[in-house]
Amino acid sequence: MMVCEYKPGLEGIPAAESSISFVNGQKGLLEYRGIRIEELAEKSSFLETAYLLIWGELPTKEELQVFEEEVRMHRRIKYRIRDMMKSFPESGHPMDALQASAAALGLFYSRRDLHNPVYIRDSVVRLLATIPTMVAAFQLMRKGNDPVRPKDELDYASNFLYMLNEKEPDPLAARIFDVCLVLHAEHTMNASTFSARVTASTLTDPYAVVASAVGTLGGPLHGGANEEVIQMLEQIGSIANVRPYIENCIQQKAKIMGFGHRVYKVKDPRATILQDLAEQLFAKFGHDEYYDIALEMERVVEEKLAHKGIYPNVDFYSGLVYRKMGITTDLFTPIFAIARVAGWLAHWKEQLEENRIFRPTQVYNGNHEVVYTPIENR
Ligand code: SDX
Repeated sequence: MMVCEYKPGLEGIPAAESSISFVNGQKGLLEYRGIRIEELAEKSSFLETAYLLIWGELPTKEELQVFEEEVRMHRRIKYRIRDMMKSFPESGHPMDALQASAAALGLFYSRRDLHNPVYIRDSVVRLLATIPTMVAAFQLMRKGNDPVRPKDELDYASNFLYMLNEKEPDPLAARIFDVCLVLHAEHTMNASTFSARVTASTLTDPYAVVASAVGTLGGPLHGGANEEVIQMLEQIGSIANVRPYIENCIQQKAKIMGFGHRVYKVKDPRATILQDLAEQLFAKFGHDEYYDIALEMERVVEEKLAHKGIYPNVDFYSGLVYRKMGITTDLFTPIFAIARVAGWLAHWKEQLEENRIFRPTQVYNGNHEVVYTPIENR
């Protein structure tokens, strides 16, 4: 067996062969199944993009209608899962609530008929349909309210915002939210997708795969950065404080949230699109002074860290879009998860076709032949 050189964080080490998405980090290019993210953001919808990622081709009009209807019909969650969520502490983080409830779905549906296309489609539909409902349900429960039922006549994005805010969203806000889901749906072998593939490789059920990926996404170095960005902008508080804040981070060798990327060494193309979406919302609903602070941060970080390839990533502007929609910051990462379920399921399906359990090796740097010391002699 050939042993490769050890690279911390498996940096630059291919973990799979995949045809789902492609990133060119030097050019700031992202494609889903070969289609540029800019085109999908402008012309597609989240469910159409999810179909593309999972089954490899854009659906026909009828295929899309059937898929949308199947998802619509599966949005409700079982009352026993709702009752379980009622026992969660209100102070709990929504990502922990989502991980627990996603895993709980497996108690009802995990039959593990993994080579049956009907089971695969059923699992895809149930996860895409119920994850938003669970995120919205926990939000209402922790406010002391009863969750609202999904509204069948609303599309995917509008229904989520309706369940979350108990009122139908502005059409522009709903469209922009759907584009945010497209942008966050997939991104090659990021940490949570790697988790999904490792978990999938043991042939466990897709609900465990998603629960594993949700747990990974929650960390502040990955999907959790969007929430930290708003807290950072709040802490900075004014344009005048931007430069001293950044200079202090650099001096302390502290990571600036929303900047840097293992692959992109130029501005994340998703950040550019999210800026445009934020500006559309500001034009209609009023400006956000945090955006001015963010623009100054981008300028100063470029001045000081461009030589290291440190630029805004997807998490830097996404929070400003959600904040303008009145979404609380600790829901930003669960919203990232709602979108990324599409990518995780695409990789789950691709891993099943690969059918090889992940079992890497290690570089052992411990001791050998150590003698056992009885406790009385330690
Ligand atoms: C996502 O992988 C994906 O595709 C993820 C994602 C997706 O769609 O799934 O794109 C979503 O997770 C985006 C990233 C969100 N995270 C953050 O915004 C947290 C802040 N960013 C960093 O923690 C960091 O940039 C990472 C984790 C994203 C990437 O880190 P790397 O590739 O491991 O880089 P590194 O830690 O090896 O740093 C290399 C150099 C270091 O300087 P030197 O020691 O060489 O002098 O760059 C510096 C770092 O100090 N650096 C930063 C920095 N990120 C890297 N310096 C300041 N601020 C930062 N944010």
